[in-house]
Amino acid sequence: MHYRMLLLLGSIMQLAALGIAGSTPSCYAGINGDPAFCSTCSGSCTAMTGCTCSTSLASCLPDQHTCILNSTACCLPSLSWYPDLACCVEEPYCTPACLADEACQYVNRIPVCAANTTFYQTLGLTAYNVSNVVTCRGSNMTVSVGKNLLEVLHYNPSASTLSEHNCTGATVSTLDGQRVYSLTVHISVGTCGNIMTKNATHVTYTNTINIPGNNMNGIVTAGNISLQFSCTYNITMQTVLSTVIKPVMSTENLNSGGTGGDALTTLAAYVNPSYTVPLQQSQQQELVVGSTLYFGMNTLFPDPAFVLRVDQAFATPTSDGTGSLKIQLIQGGCSTDNGPNIQVIENGVSKEVRFSITSFAFRGYDTVYIFCDARLCNTASESCSACSSTREVSEGAVQFSLGPLSFQDNLADSSGHRTGLSFTLLVGSLMSLWILLLSEIV
Ligand SMILES: *[C@@H]1O[C@H](CO)[C@@H](O)[C@H](O)[C@H]1NC(C)=O
Ligand SMILES: *[C@@H]1O[C@H](CO)[C@@H](O)[C@H](O)[C@H]1NC(C)=O
Ligand SMILES: *[C@@H]1O[C@H](CO)[C@@H](O)[C@H](O)[C@H]1NC(C)=O
Ligand SMILES: *[C@@H]1O[C@H](CO)[C@@H](O)[C@H](O)[C@H]1NC(C)=O
Ligand SMILES: *[C@@H]1O[C@H](CO)[C@@H](O)[C@H](O)[C@H]1NC(C)=O
Ligand SMILES: *[C@@H]1O[C@H](CO)[C@@H](O)[C@H](O)[C@H]1NC(C)=O
Ligand SMILES: *[C@@H]1O[C@H](CO)[C@@H](O)[C@H](O)[C@H]1NC(C)=O
Ligand SMILES: *[C@@H]1O[C@H](CO)[C@@H](O)[C@H](O)[C@H]1NC(C)=O
Repeated sequence: MHYRMLLLLGSIMQLAALGIAGSTPSCYAGINGDPAFCSTCSGSCTAMTGCTCSTSLASCLPDQHTCILNSTACCLPSLSWYPDLACCVEEPYCTPACLADEACQYVNRIPVCAANTTFYQTLGLTAYNVSNVVTCRGSNMTVSVGKNLLEVLHYNPSASTLSEHNCTGATVSTLDGQRVYSLTVHISVGTCGNIMTKNATHVTYTNTINIPGNNMNGIVTAGNISLQFSCTYNITMQTVLSTVIKPVMSTENLNSGGTGGDALTTLAAYVNPSYTVPLQQSQQQELVVGSTLYFGMNTLFPDPAFVLRVDQAFATPTSDGTGSLKIQLIQGGCSTDNGPNIQVIENGVSKEVRFSITSFAFRGYDTVYIFCDARLCNTASESCSACSSTREVSEGAVQFSLGPLSFQDNLADSSGHRTGLSFTLLVGSLMSLWILLLSEIV
């Protein structure tokens, strides 16, 4: 017994020495036939059970070059798969290789890349040296913190949270050669405690990552670390949509004709001509008669040869877009009234389309749904910004819809409620308005 122990210790020392010298380890062969090689007991290997003898179901050692799993699943606990030799070895061996600040170690008898404590102690780093990296991508912000330094300092970065403590689920990955834990949050107001600030040109979202200290047997070994992070975006028609809780918008994927790339496209309504204030769902049924609504579309499709074009837009009182009552707003890419009530500001020239409509365009309706047939248009083969006489909508067009929009008289009744304008009232007021306008023109 003693002899065997010594032998084992000796071989470990030897392996360690070999490891330092950078030599390759050798296949583990067991001690006096224990454990048995799989070839001696008709054993086989599966990802679920590892390598086992067919008769006793005891674990066995796969013979060199026999375990097709090609991973540590081939090996008994406290052994590691060594791909170059295609066998199990005693010294911990990690695939893929560990990073410079890590050491391959057995944790729960499985080889894993763990933080190299000596490495960090040599550098003399403390909690003051913990920092974060922020990636602002599209409508996400991702905050990452270095896993290894935090673990050496007795923190538990895998349990990190955002301002709102139920925003958890940090995932591990490598970033610039460092192993990091990351949390991703969508840039919308209030989500996970996001704080939004904006000025005329930029909108900034700020949040905080909280990294808890390890809690070992109820004893907290380190205080929490809280690090603030933020992403700043230029104010655009697209980025302002995240600045309100529920914008009036609709998102569809356009048919990109198999050219690949994300063709995610949004249609949204705005209340100002500079498209910086989105219409909110809480306001969409309380629009003032006579007000102008600004409609903006934007596509993420990256190919520069393509622009966004709205072939037609129309309004109906019903949400399904069918029915005989229908107001054509845009046809063949252009306004149906050339101006006063329907203005096409930009169509078929960029990745954005802009048009505006005054509520007077919706003569005879007090509730309307807006429909838009939009598509990607190839500037190399078509004149995408031209007005076309055809009433046909191009084959690849996708329909977007917004609504219901309702128009209210600006005056409250005696009980303080705003009243929806009835059909006749609206027509009546429009008639008088037209008469007024006509008399002014004349
Ligand atoms: C085994 O896995 C290693 C890395 O995981 C790979 O480089 C090698 O090609 C694999 N060998 C076989 C036989 O699949
Ligand atoms: C751990 O870091 C120390 C100090 O940098 C280094 O000497 C040692 O080789 C490292 N250990 C491993 C297994 O990489
Ligand atoms: C670690 O933090 C201390 C205290 O803030 C600072 O003096 C030191 O330069 C930092 N070390 C590194 C490597 O950043
Ligand atoms: C944003 O994050 C979500 C969820 O994590 C993910 O599905 C989506 O692909 C991300 N978008 C971008 C642009 O990274
Ligand atoms: C977190 O909690 C808040 C308030 O209780 C809740 O509104 C929110 O939906 C929760 N978020 C998640 C991601 O569970
Ligand atoms: C708006 O905010 C951005 C980001 O915080 C800042 O860089 C910019 O100077 C601010 N502009 C004005 C006009 O205050
Ligand atoms: C540290 O963070 C944990 C988990 O987020 C939380 O439960 C605990 O209250 C925090 N402790 C302090 C002192 O803030
Ligand atoms: C933000 O706006 C500035 C000035 O208009 C411009 O130079 C910059 O490229 C914009 N950044 C992005 C990400 O669009």
